[in-house]
Amino acid sequence: MTEQILKVEQVEAIALIGLNNPPVNALSADLRAATYKALQILRSDDAIKAIVIYGEGRFFSAGADIKDFGRATEKPTLPDLLKDINDSSKPIIVALHGIAFGGGLELALAAHVRVGVSGLRAALPEVKLGIIPGAGGTQRLPRLAGIRAAVDIICTGKEVSAEKALEIGILDRLTNDSARDAGIAAANDVLTGKIPANSTDGLSIAPASTVIDAARQKYTGGLKAPLRALESIEAATRPISEGLALEREIFLQLMQSDERAGLVHAFFAERATAKIPEQNAGLQEINSIGVIGGGTMGVGIASAFSIAGFPVTLIELQDEQLKRARTIIDLNLSGALKRGKMKQEAYEKTRDILHFSTNLTDLAKTDLVIEAVFEDMDVKTELFKQLDNICKPGAMLATNTSYLDVNTIAAATKRANDVIGLHFFSPAHIMRLLEVVVAEKTSPELVATSFNLARKIGKIPVRAGVCDGFIGNRILSRYRKCCEYMLLDGAEFDQIDSALESFGFAMGPFAVADLAGLDISYTTRKRKAKTRPVEERYVRIADLVYEQGWHGRKNGCGFYVYDDSKIRVPNPGARDIVTKERAMLGIEPQTFTDDDIVARCLTTMIQEAANVLDEGIALRPVDIDAVELFGYGFPRHRGGPLHMADQIGLDTIIDRIRTYAEEDDYFWRVPTLLKQMLSKNQTFADLNISPEK
Ligand code: 3HC
Ligand code: NAI
Repeated sequence: MTEQILKVEQVEAIALIGLNNPPVNALSADLRAATYKALQILRSDDAIKAIVIYGEGRFFSAGADIKDFGRATEKPTLPDLLKDINDSSKPIIVALHGIAFGGGLELALAAHVRVGVSGLRAALPEVKLGIIPGAGGTQRLPRLAGIRAAVDIICTGKEVSAEKALEIGILDRLTNDSARDAGIAAANDVLTGKIPANSTDGLSIAPASTVIDAARQKYTGGLKAPLRALESIEAATRPISEGLALEREIFLQLMQSDERAGLVHAFFAERATAKIPEQNAGLQEINSIGVIGGGTMGVGIASAFSIAGFPVTLIELQDEQLKRARTIIDLNLSGALKRGKMKQEAYEKTRDILHFSTNLTDLAKTDLVIEAVFEDMDVKTELFKQLDNICKPGAMLATNTSYLDVNTIAAATKRANDVIGLHFFSPAHIMRLLEVVVAEKTSPELVATSFNLARKIGKIPVRAGVCDGFIGNRILSRYRKCCEYMLLDGAEFDQIDSALESFGFAMGPFAVADLAGLDISYTTRKRKAKTRPVEERYVRIADLVYEQGWHGRKNGCGFYVYDDSKIRVPNPGARDIVTKERAMLGIEPQTFTDDDIVARCLTTMIQEAANVLDEGIALRPVDIDAVELFGYGFPRHRGGPLHMADQIGLDTIIDRIRTYAEEDDYFWRVPTLLKQMLSKNQTFADLNISPEK
């Protein structure tokens, strides 16, 4: 019964239980039941004097099985199992290696002795999933490490190193042995009285109300879980049974929340995008990177690869731009070193493997070349013609274009199957999203290699097809238009920004436009003017603001006026432009509530996302959610626009589109896919099927 999911063996008077539930030793119902049963059998065996629990495989345990969230919990629950461990008449020693997260760490906290292996990372990351530790973490961690450390660890979900875990009392001992051997050694020491075996539940702690009060002021970010965790930690000074009961009650309440559902969706979205039709294609070897263009994106891309240890050659037009690029890359690398994203040795090595040049032929032997020059089709096609002549056969040629047709760029070469879009986001060494844009002739190996490479540099790759703006920028364009229409029709720009910021975006669209520079969006609109459909409403307000010489933050004035502290105050001149434009067009301003603003923005994102899906530009709804979450600042706890669409209900979304269409039936059209889904009673979650299934 227990052979597969547990490895149980006996070494003299010590019984060993190895958790064996790949890939992450999640504490699933089967693993809990098997462990519970094994403990009962071993305790009734007189030959056994101590029991060691350790993890088989890469690490100890990633905690509770997140896939089970939202389903009824099967017995024994994790709290039942952990109580049984704490109350055991025979000493239980837990040996931790690799990772001990969530319920995995809670299991260890309930044992009598904890031994860690060097390199261990311990955490209670439950708040990142919208819940609190639900198997004693908020009660037992304060008992072992004190309330201050427990608040810090539980309310942030951050990782603690093995050394820190030893220092604060989570671990009794730290070794370099294997977990199994470390467990046996510790068990022998317990049996000979060298280390005491204590019940964590028997420990008591003093109240620390000042720590709790200070934390209450700190964790006011709008998320429920950190504050509820504090409530539970505060109860750790009460008898353990009361504290555990309160913890469980809060845990179960949060399990039902939208916040939990959104955060868990985001957790799986981050991983789901890797499942692509090309995942079994061969990989090309990529050992050197060329980046062309040392502007905003080029320096970020070069930094991202350098931080990951790849040799990079950056090409610019002139020495002056190269010098500027080098200065910014240096700053990015030292920032990465400070943030712990790079080790000192790797940082020093970049001096030897980072090259700067104005000569394109220096890329002749490079494995992957990424172009990040001006967003202009003629400039890009001319460059790809040159690359076709310079680069070695089989080199990967990538464009970082935001909107342009990757098929046309590929057609400028005689090797279209070697051309792909790698769309990074600014700042490219920080933002996690990478849209992998697959053109008509792109080879499957190139796609698989891009996904593999993305993971190596810490990015979340999402497969996208070719269209104007791919997945993310296409949806962004709709969202912006929707905001401009509301502005013209009566909402103020600062109201729109603050409504969307209260929803959870870090910045509203007009504040973002100021940050990016109104000159940039002006140029894009002028470029697209020729192809704009005549039926489409066009709002001139941003053009008029720009034409006043107000370029946004870069010159201190745009939709807002900025002082040195970067505090934004609405620009009265921009308000004036809005009022005059409405009057000129004979528009009687309507009232929009904050809820109306959010509802319209969300509805148009869902509308465009449905078209993107229907056209096959995105593989699955979850890919679109991932793009929005990891590239466009969609609030993580809301899970993404299509996750929200399922929560809101397709009938409501369609009703809203039909209502808004009474004002503008060109912009507000019900996508065919939404009608089909409604008739089949489908949700977006139903469409999240992996390509290999
Ligand atoms: N439950 C179920 N599946 C899990 C899981 C978990 N706790 N943790 C990871 N997985 C799955 C992933 O979805 C992935 O599945 P896939 O291959 O089908 O996409 C697979 O395991 C491998 O995961 P990763 O790709 O993330 O592997 P890594 O080696 O890169 O990372 C990890 C490992 C650091 C453990 C990372 O997976 C992680 O952070 N997991 C979540 C840990 C966590 O939040 N634990 C708390 C759970 S809540 C809890 O314990 C409640 C308790 O208090 C009662
Ligand atoms: P930028 O204007 O900041 O930088 C472009 C750089 O390319 C300039 O420094 C220029 O000197 C250099 N350059 C031009 N032609 C060159 C050539 N033939 N050889 C070598 N260098 C050359 O532009 P930015 O913002 O970095 O954008 C670059 C590309 O990335 C564009 O296609 C853009 O659409 C895309 N992009 C931009 C994002 C952004 O947020 N800025 C986000 C994602 C993509």
